Amino acid sequence: MTADGTDLFGQASALASEGKSKDAAFLYRQLLEIQPQHLAAAQALADLVARGDVAGDPAAACKAAIDIETGSIYSVAKTALNHERFDVALRCYRKILDLDPEYEDAIWGLAEANYGNGDRKEALVWYRRYHDLFPDDPEAAHMVAALGDGPKPVRASDAYVKETFDNFAEDFDRQLLEDLEYKAPKLIYALFRDVSTGKDKNLAILDAGCGTGLAGVEFKSHASSLIGVDLSPEMLKLAEKRKIYDELLQEELAACMQARAGAFDLIVAADVFCYIGDLADTLAAAGVALRSSGRLIFSVEAQSKRGFSLTGSGRYAHKPAYIRKAAEKAGLREVSGRNENLRMEYGEPVKGYLTVLEKP
Ligand SMILES: C[S@@+](CC[C@H](N)C(=O)[O-])C[C@H]1O[C@@H](n2cnc3c(N)ncnc32)[C@H](O)[C@@H]1O
Repeated sequence: MTADGTDLFGQASALASEGKSKDAAFLYRQLLEIQPQHLAAAQALADLVARGDVAGDPAAACKAAIDIETGSIYSVAKTALNHERFDVALRCYRKILDLDPEYEDAIWGLAEANYGNGDRKEALVWYRRYHDLFPDDPEAAHMVAALGDGPKPVRASDAYVKETFDNFAEDFDRQLLEDLEYKAPKLIYALFRDVSTGKDKNLAILDAGCGTGLAGVEFKSHASSLIGVDLSPEMLKLAEKRKIYDELLQEELAACMQARAGAFDLIVAADVFCYIGDLADTLAAAGVALRSSGRLIFSVEAQSKRGFSLTGSGRYAHKPAYIRKAAEKAGLREVSGRNENLRMEYGEPVKGYLTVLEKP
């Protein structure tokens, strides 16, 4: 027997084939202590327990083996999904549900993989299945609304935003920057420089929906104070690590702005208003929070049809004309606007619109 358990499986299997089941089970258990994910050992042990050769609960032993198998298939499925190999992801998730029909993350995975594969109808079936199991889950409710025929919310709920980004936080920077070629913060910064009046140092800046701080990094050198606000505590923890913010607030951004009248020279919102459809209250709050001549710079996902809509992705798209109208109502005027691709999604560029609004 070696310390790392390399020979244990062979020795245990030899004992099992000699009919020395108790000794074999002892070694399989030892091996599983060293390597808890050793599928063959868990399966062999489950066999011995199921045959009644050794003591134990057969259902629990079988479940332990299934959990190891589904866990390892799940990690393949996730990798396949992240690399947009939807065919592989779909096969893996289905296999998991064959083994364990209650594996909830595979139900969610089937929804995501079907959506990525272009099958919105089937995606909705699986989001509904998840929603039926967890009626209080805000992400499921939001996705059923986004893909279904029922009424659409005019903005994503705070609970949806919090849960989505708390779950996403750890992988956010890697996925956005490496996989999705995310450019919104740099594009917004370039626009800020292009429309600069020269008075662009020592600004009181709010990074609205700061996330992990990718936009904050761009604007830091222009700030006398840099405040970040976000609903997701997990995203804020990562923003904190950058050590660029004077203050980080866990609040809804419109409420935050409404409560800080005349506090900011510049408000930046990179890839945030895609979670807010009706922008009236948000722009009005920005109007309150900005000082005279202060500016709000943000990106939206662009659409050519009127107004705004909740798309199948669960995010909102806005027509630039809608933004200008809503800005006017909030007492803000557009200084500049431009179309840009914000990032990639399923191999296609996400078309966006960047705008600078000014408080006269
Ligand atoms: C796609 S991320 C972008 C983060 C960052 N601005 C960047 O460019 O990397 C969107 C962020 O906005 C936050 N968010 C969305 N809606 C919000 C709201 N109403 N109030 C506060 N934060 C919000 C989310 O929690 C998330 O961290």
